[in-house]
Amino acid sequence: MKIAVNLDRLSSELEDLASFSDAPPSEEGTAVTRVVFTSTDLEARTFLETLAEKAGLRIRRDAVGNIFFRWEGSDPSLAPIGTGSHTDAIPHAGMYDGTVGVLGGLEAIRALKEAGFQPKRSIELLMFTSEEPTRFGIGCLGSRLLSGTLSPEKADALIDKHERTLEEVRTAAGFSGGLDTVKLPAGYYHHWLELHIEQGPLLEREGLPIGIVTAIAAPASYKFYLEGFGGHAGALLMPERKDALCAAAELILSVERNTLATGAIDTVGTVGTAQIHPGAVNSVPSRVTLELDLRDIDPARRESVIEAVRRDIAAIQAKRGVTVREELVNADPPATSDATIVAALEEVCRDAKILYKKMVSRAYHDSLFMARISPIAMIFIPCRNGVSHRPDEYASPEAIGTGVSVLAAAMARLAAQ
Ligand code: GLV
Ligand code: MN
Ligand code: MN
Repeated sequence: MKIAVNLDRLSSELEDLASFSDAPPSEEGTAVTRVVFTSTDLEARTFLETLAEKAGLRIRRDAVGNIFFRWEGSDPSLAPIGTGSHTDAIPHAGMYDGTVGVLGGLEAIRALKEAGFQPKRSIELLMFTSEEPTRFGIGCLGSRLLSGTLSPEKADALIDKHERTLEEVRTAAGFSGGLDTVKLPAGYYHHWLELHIEQGPLLEREGLPIGIVTAIAAPASYKFYLEGFGGHAGALLMPERKDALCAAAELILSVERNTLATGAIDTVGTVGTAQIHPGAVNSVPSRVTLELDLRDIDPARRESVIEAVRRDIAAIQAKRGVTVREELVNADPPATSDATIVAALEEVCRDAKILYKKMVSRAYHDSLFMARISPIAMIFIPCRNGVSHRPDEYASPEAIGTGVSVLAAAMARLAAQ
């Protein structure tokens, strides 16, 4: 079977999808901001559904807004092959993160249909709700619920920065019903595959078109609420201050120091947001909220970092008279890819004479949670300079085309079994 990926169609759809954005134009590249359940996100979903309908796929939306697009196999009683990713984008991001796995998954299905392939197992494309943690502070919201990793009650009670709950926001967006209906039974997918840009530099540096992901690193995130004593920036005397932002600065540096101290390249820690109250140049900060993202392929080592940070926090509190409250948002184990899918991907690459390497994903993906209910693997393609979560994120049409053709060929193999 000759599978022909239509790169013009796919490239123009990626461009069209990128136009659904709340980011101001950027000189650095195509800036995309698409936060879950904003009108922009909803318009992008409609765009995707229109394409999928045109491709003859059946649509199902669940209560949290995950969207399933199904190509029925000749034996619908068999567990399907799943693929997909996300279309939400963090503020001021690029146009390839997630979207390559969604529109690329659609293109893989269309290419298989156009090649005359009839799958025995159904093939399902899935667009996950809120892989990015931007709005509700926790990543992979859709896949956490699909895999039963997050309780429906906790999920519905999550709040955004306007104190609107997920329940309110999703209902307003047209996704109602109990979140307890979202969870998929274990083994729902026979095999699961996600195509994604690498978001790191290794494939490009080594001149390799494909990475086969063997494991996904374990992410954790925390919030820290610091409370000091604020007041007038001129009148409040220096020795009497309990400046919450100064304490936050020490906490941030403790994260950096303790992350580096593991000596492992796989330990990464980032404080990516800080909310300062009252946030005026002439007012001593009285309250600060920080969000910490901490990851490692080794969860015990990750845990040792947060423990060291906690010891520093105790010292910072004592020294500065600022109280620090820690809230765990999530601390997830890593995931391992399934040997059968990895072998199928290797065979596909070898047959097509495509060079590849096996590698670890240091970014998280919805596949981390799909791994809890199905055998998974991921396909990585190179992106320019390894850049991601920035407007200058770029993957060439050729790189995307190779990824889609590997995905299509692997799905064809797995769906025939
Ligand atoms: C996903 O976007 C991640 O932050 O790894
Ligand atoms: Mn991302
Ligand atoms: Mn992504």
